[in-house]
Amino acid sequence: MGEQQSKPGLAVVTGAAGGMGSAVASQLSAEGWSLLLCDLDQKRLEENARPLRNKAAQVEILAGDIADCAFPSQLAAALGNRQIAALIHTAGLSPTMGDAARIFAVNYDATVRLVEVVYPRMAEGGCAVLISSSSAYMINSPEIDAALNALQTGEDSSSLMKFATKPEMAYPISKRAVIRLVAREATAFGKKHARIVSIAPGLIDTKMSRAEQAASSQMDAMLERTPLGRLGHADEIASVAVFLCSRAASYVTGCDIKVDGGMLAALGR
Ligand SMILES: NC(=O)c1ccc[n+]([C@@H]2O[C@H](COP(=O)([O-])OP(=O)(O)OC[C@H]3O[C@@H](n4cnc5c(N)ncnc54)[C@H](O)[C@@H]3O)[C@@H](O)[C@H]2O)c1
Repeated sequence: MGEQQSKPGLAVVTGAAGGMGSAVASQLSAEGWSLLLCDLDQKRLEENARPLRNKAAQVEILAGDIADCAFPSQLAAALGNRQIAALIHTAGLSPTMGDAARIFAVNYDATVRLVEVVYPRMAEGGCAVLISSSSAYMINSPEIDAALNALQTGEDSSSLMKFATKPEMAYPISKRAVIRLVAREATAFGKKHARIVSIAPGLIDTKMSRAEQAASSQMDAMLERTPLGRLGHADEIASVAVFLCSRAASYVTGCDIKVDGGMLAALGR
């Protein structure tokens, strides 16, 4: 095969105080990974880290706002000269959690900068897993797709702002941009014998989806059409993320994996 495969090393997990991020941290620690857990919420990061310290090789935390321009240098300082075997980036905001500008800043611009920090430190055989969303497949606009295709490595979301004055539009566009980022950066990661992939969750039972469900009846309608007929669990996203970082997924890169109970298929997307 001529290249190393992923094995438990250092994994950076963002959103590690949240539903999916906590589940990812817990599953990786059980496999003996070392963890650097990042989130806005320092208190919950510390609570989550405590029980993992018995299992994981090492658990560190970095509290901060991933959308803050200082965050990349804080992360770089926390990493020192260590290589990263996995990035699992779950931090994000849903439409009820911010205005359009903040949603782009957290879901896309911060993701671009995170990938820039991680890329030079990516270990051979390593994998970056970003979280997109099934909502990214609801966009049906050649103009938006043209703008997304024109985005260059390192470019922020300014060219997309005109398509989204409302958070309900900013969210799916920001997540479609994440899917494009993964496709765009796969070649550069491949040159390092590393991979980059995204996961598009459907309706997953976390604090985020509960907030969206309370704000609109649209989620209930989508749930009704979901072939598996239930919400997904954060663990069911985490297990796919852990698989993607494993040797078993060594030929998977540059793509978006739908983990949505069949919802998009049922909607014809
Ligand atoms: N839950 C769903 O149904 C669903 C569906 C599709 C996509 N997603 C995506 O999955 C990812 C994880 O969502 P979740 O359901 O676990 O949500 P969650 O709200 O439980 O967790 C998100 C975490 O991200 C952190 N975060 C938010 N903004 C941050 C910032 N600026 N800096 C640092 N940390 C920040 C929050 O503090 C929180 O701990 C998100 O990217 C979300 O858009 C979720």
